[in-house]
Amino acid sequence: MYTKEDLKRHLAEMNFFPWDTVLVHSSMKSIGEVEGGADTVLDAFCEYFCDGLLIFPTHTWATINEKHYIYDPDKEPSCVGLLTNMFMKREGVVRSLHPTHSVAVLGQRAKEFIEGEENATTPCPRNGCWGRLIEERAKILFLGCPLTKFTFVHGPEEWLDIPDRLAPAIDLKIKMPDGTYHDSSFHKHQCSFGNVSDNFGKLTEPLLSKGIAQRGKFGDADCIIADAARSSDFVMRLLQTDPEIFNDPDPIPEEYYAVRRKMKISPSILACDVANLEKEINSVPNADFIHIDIMDGHFVPNLSFGLPIVRAVNDLTDIPLDLHLMMSNPSKYIEAFAKAGADMISVHYEVDEDLSELISLIESFNVKPAVALKPATPVEVVYPYLDRLASVLIMTVEPGFGGQSFHAECLEKVRKLRAEIRKRGLSVEIEADGGINTSNIGLVSNSGVSIAVMGTALFKESDREAFVDRCKG
Ligand code: DX5
Ligand code: ZN
Repeated sequence: MYTKEDLKRHLAEMNFFPWDTVLVHSSMKSIGEVEGGADTVLDAFCEYFCDGLLIFPTHTWATINEKHYIYDPDKEPSCVGLLTNMFMKREGVVRSLHPTHSVAVLGQRAKEFIEGEENATTPCPRNGCWGRLIEERAKILFLGCPLTKFTFVHGPEEWLDIPDRLAPAIDLKIKMPDGTYHDSSFHKHQCSFGNVSDNFGKLTEPLLSKGIAQRGKFGDADCIIADAARSSDFVMRLLQTDPEIFNDPDPIPEEYYAVRRKMKISPSILACDVANLEKEINSVPNADFIHIDIMDGHFVPNLSFGLPIVRAVNDLTDIPLDLHLMMSNPSKYIEAFAKAGADMISVHYEVDEDLSELISLIESFNVKPAVALKPATPVEVVYPYLDRLASVLIMTVEPGFGGQSFHAECLEKVRKLRAEIRKRGLSVEIEADGGINTSNIGLVSNSGVSIAVMGTALFKESDREAFVDRCKG
């Protein structure tokens, strides 16, 4: 049996402060036995948050409809639980006039917090209560209930105009404090694939793992406490990556939210204007490497550059040269490429030569050895050589041509390789090559790539220096 003091202590243990702004989604029955019941629970909250803003949702979207189209804040029950209905009737609590997503608030600034909500509509615009939660640096408490109650996420969805979220508008009237009626309208949340908030539960793990939410305990109830502002940033970024992220219950891919490492950029001059090589090289002064593709018309069905170009680029810049040898019999030319100025040389695993000898040969000229893998080659083939390599180049297109589209499935190899490198405590770079652009570089980076080769996407830009900076992240 919990007492009021127990419950206040639980709030303190969840790192709440009396001056916090907190929105509470609650399930009374999960708390367990409390001396004095639900009233005691509310007393604990009201007393604890004496200097802050205590907010309970008192939504009415379940009961307001075409037939029942008057929202009277004094009479309309809340459709989101027992505690909310009791809280809004308490002394000093004010209820907002939002037509369907009203909130009840206690605190010195409560009136200010709900001001103008009669002019808002579903569920709350950026300058309404949902947006104010961000300005307030509010915490959102899920007390014994899952994140499927995360109504706040509808805010970011609507601020970003995510399609297929709302049913057509329904007219209603709001009863104002002076007894007059204010014309309004609202939209129900209605998506073609079902109830979107059922899928908000998949935010739980990502928010906890990023430290945006914490776990806690209130009575017997398991709680989650989410930071409103950081949740909003997080959800907005997710929705910008994939507007349909909440259309299904599948887990959120880890690369959508894992920490992004700094990316090194290796511009591929295959896509540049070779007639103006000096100008082109000078347009990327902040590049970490210059990627030079050597194609022999035999290992790949295309011809590109040879030794004179490598020498020319080497004379033009101090940026290290990253040579990608797409050629049969690379051993014949390694010395020449090393002397022409190569700093790193990638040889393909698929060539008909002894890889161990190739690595030794490259090293013997003081050049960094790397191995390149075509999309179909399993990544495990490089494991025996890993501790001798400076880098592994994972092709994300079939080698041979620039401007092809990116094969995302190749990132599975990157993930495996990154895990292996980490496990063995090595510092091998992972380079990805082919079809990389600004819409996939986040994924590329989060999968574990540390050097991105960029050809077409980079050289079509006018301000390449700024572009390279942006891609570095
Ligand atoms: C493809 C080459 C790539 C190519 C990348 O065989 O290895 O280096 O230049 O160019 P984009 O970025 O255009 O795919
Ligand atoms: Zn390449």
